Amino acid sequence: MERFNLTRMSWSVVTSTSSFFVLLAIVFVPTQAFAQYTKKTVVAYRGASESAPEHTLEAYRLAIEQGADFVGQDLQITKDGVLVCLHDLTLERTTNVEEIFPDRYREVSRAGGTERQWFVYDFKLEEIKQLDAGSWFHERFAGALIPTWREAIQAIRGKAGLFPEIKTPEVYGLHGFDMERLVLTELERNDLDQPGADPRTPVVIQAFSAESLQKMALELKVALPLVMLLGERNSQWVSPAGLQQVKEFARGISPEKNFLMANPAIVEWAHNADLTVTPYLFQSSAVGKGFLNLRVEMAYYLYTLDVDALLTNSPDQFPSYSPSSIR
Ligand code: G3P
Repeated sequence: MERFNLTRMSWSVVTSTSSFFVLLAIVFVPTQAFAQYTKKTVVAYRGASESAPEHTLEAYRLAIEQGADFVGQDLQITKDGVLVCLHDLTLERTTNVEEIFPDRYREVSRAGGTERQWFVYDFKLEEIKQLDAGSWFHERFAGALIPTWREAIQAIRGKAGLFPEIKTPEVYGLHGFDMERLVLTELERNDLDQPGADPRTPVVIQAFSAESLQKMALELKVALPLVMLLGERNSQWVSPAGLQQVKEFARGISPEKNFLMANPAIVEWAHNADLTVTPYLFQSSAVGKGFLNLRVEMAYYLYTLDVDALLTNSPDQFPSYSPSSIR
């Protein structure tokens, strides 16, 4: 088992009557060791997506420039079976699809009515590539495109690791796609399907779906580290015994940060099961109550709660550590 190179700090966060202050009490103790990471690790979620439109090559490039160890991609599948990087199942939040393909929506029932939605699986790649995925964020990113996963791999390879999420595989299954196999095939095509295949580009795969992770681990024999996303929606796994079961098909968990804060024992339970802990999502627009800023919040999770890594869309705020300073 690999051991962290860095020592671990314990941070105490205290409050005063008028405002919250952060008191940094640094205690050096030997570190514990968990596979898949060699140090406290920053995963740039959707790229540096507080500085550039999420899941564009510019957001990925900036994430690397800002020091990300891994760059995270949410994966969706086009009508013609191509993996593309997009968080949502649908295109309207982050592109101009309504303008380019006004009639290609589905009416979806929502509480109290219906809504028009443009689903990725209804569009071929050639159509997806006509969309502007940058202007919604800021006009200076006008014309940014939705990357295929292959393009993302090419852009990131050699500069950071890959942290793809298999997004709603059950939905894509209904449309005839085997998402897990598609992901594995793309990794094989790039010679990245084995741990250590490219030491500059480690790969960690995450998913909420236990079935999907079990399929990858047990049926497809994926040797790469698999991480289970955890939150209220699949909280049935959250117990010492539940996490021991997760260990049978995953190497880590990725709990939602507020869920983890409410149940901090999860870290110890996970570490006892030899699982890494990589909470999500740390962003300056949603700093947790009581924390001075994003950097302090991330430091608390890393060094007081002792998580191994975290997902943020501001990797430049990741609290680097050296024995004599915290910045
Ligand atoms: O990687 C964490 C994130 O993708 C969790 O999923 O859909 O709640 O944003 P979601």
